[in-house]
Amino acid sequence: MAIRIIRTEGDEILKKKSREVEIVDEKIRELAEDMLETMHKLNGVGLAAVQVGILKRVIVIDTYEEGVEPFVLINPEIIKTKGEQTVEEGCLSFPNKFAKVLRPKEVTIKALNKDGKKIEVKGKDLLAQAICHEIDHLNGEVFIDKIIPGTLELITQE
Ligand code: NI
Repeated sequence: MAIRIIRTEGDEILKKKSREVEIVDEKIRELAEDMLETMHKLNGVGLAAVQVGILKRVIVIDTYEEGVEPFVLINPEIIKTKGEQTVEEGCLSFPNKFAKVLRPKEVTIKALNKDGKKIEVKGKDLLAQAICHEIDHLNGEVFIDKIIPGTLELITQE
């Protein structure tokens, strides 16, 4: 496992669309492991492969809820959403920016897990928010482009 370098604001790769994973092999599993390690080191809730410079449809999520394992989701696809929530959001690629965005309250997705098995995941609240945020990354979209006007906060870190 290894820590990977996070691509940040201004890096054109963040605007690119990621490609479907055709075969879930060792290389993809290694990528996912590295992404988990990188995300955990930075106390992130989610990370998309494009953020470490790989244009493949792989995301990892950890809501740090007790008893809930981190998610590795490959080729995730939203099949249903329900309701909406206004939530505070940040992104490891925009380390100093936080803002409010509108997200579905609940989301159901289908994806492949790290063994290449088809799974369905239903998430609400923070998990729904994280899933939508990370799938946006796979489509070259970043949260900063969909913030609720007037809610942007710039945090200066020492
Ligand atoms: Ni992000």
